[in-house]
Amino acid sequence: MRKTETIRVNAGRGYDVKIAEGLLADCGEEVAKACPKAKKAAVVCDEHLMLPWCETVCASLYDAGLSCGLLTIRAGEANKTLAQYGRILEFLAEEKISRTDVLVALGGGMTGDMAGFAAATYLRGIDCVQIPTSLLAMVDSSVGGKTAVDLPSGKNLAGAFHQPALVLCDPLVLRTLPESDFSDGMAEVIKYGVLGDPKLFAAVRDCLLARAATPDHSGASVPGVKKSMDRRIAEVIASCVRDKQQIVEMDEFDRGERMKLNLGHTVGHAIELCSGYEISHGRAVAAGLAIICRAAASRGLMPQRDAEEVCELLRLAQLPAETSYSVKELAEAALSDKKLMGGILYLIVPSGIGACGILPVYPEELPAWIEAGL
Ligand code: GLY
Repeated sequence: MRKTETIRVNAGRGYDVKIAEGLLADCGEEVAKACPKAKKAAVVCDEHLMLPWCETVCASLYDAGLSCGLLTIRAGEANKTLAQYGRILEFLAEEKISRTDVLVALGGGMTGDMAGFAAATYLRGIDCVQIPTSLLAMVDSSVGGKTAVDLPSGKNLAGAFHQPALVLCDPLVLRTLPESDFSDGMAEVIKYGVLGDPKLFAAVRDCLLARAATPDHSGASVPGVKKSMDRRIAEVIASCVRDKQQIVEMDEFDRGERMKLNLGHTVGHAIELCSGYEISHGRAVAAGLAIICRAAASRGLMPQRDAEEVCELLRLAQLPAETSYSVKELAEAALSDKKLMGGILYLIVPSGIGACGILPVYPEELPAWIEAGL
């Protein structure tokens, strides 16, 4: 029998995050249970998702008695726009989705953010089931109810908090992803380890070392090895979701504790912006994390050895620990990212592997922080 890990998130709206291999094939039953009044499901998926996964999801929804419409959207952060968001709203209207129906967001972080925002605003809010298909979306963006689109002047500038009705993670999908998508997700996983979970940090190192020593990384050609790799990855996903659940329950609306999830993101978002979103979120966050760790170490706030360990783990995950952008470029981009609150930037600064603090910083102090970490 399949082993399902269920993590309950008690936010304003309580919901389950379920993690199990093969969940996609049974998603219809799960959606019908979580949204018992729904008659229709509008599935929004990104173009990179392999067709068989879309078919599996639609067939399962149909078998559970839900009529199902499918919209494929363009993938990539550069397409997380008001125009594509408008297309989703139009699709929901054309499908005659009612207040009791459900939107199913099937894809990576960008799909979940944008489709989630459409669910938050269509008819002033309908149910949304998140079915993340990338490691990054499973461990972070699908949980916690942040939904948004980007504006030309910055990332996630229009959005809403809209908790999902259910999140379904099927680690089997990850086997079909390119290696670079796996490492992108690992950046957020390592972030969780650094900000508050030293056990996870150590488990990730073991997992990556085992993976590196395995034929073709996932052990796909050796069934026993593949099973144990899949199990380790499912455990890593569950640990991250538990960490996030605790933070979201403490601070659903991102006024305090939840800001810690932005560790590595001040410089990370700046790198994404400087690159015109050519550098992926995971890679940008990895470099941002390395920079803030080195800056904290150089200011005596974090042991040097811990900062080095973080950079080593990022490299082991095939992620960058450096950026070629200058202090000026990064500081300008970071300050244009509308992250200031009352003229103050809140920088998340690690004090070791497994602990971090929220430090108020004046904008004019930011270049020195970045310089210390480059
Ligand atoms: N991804 C950061 C957060 O959910 O707060």
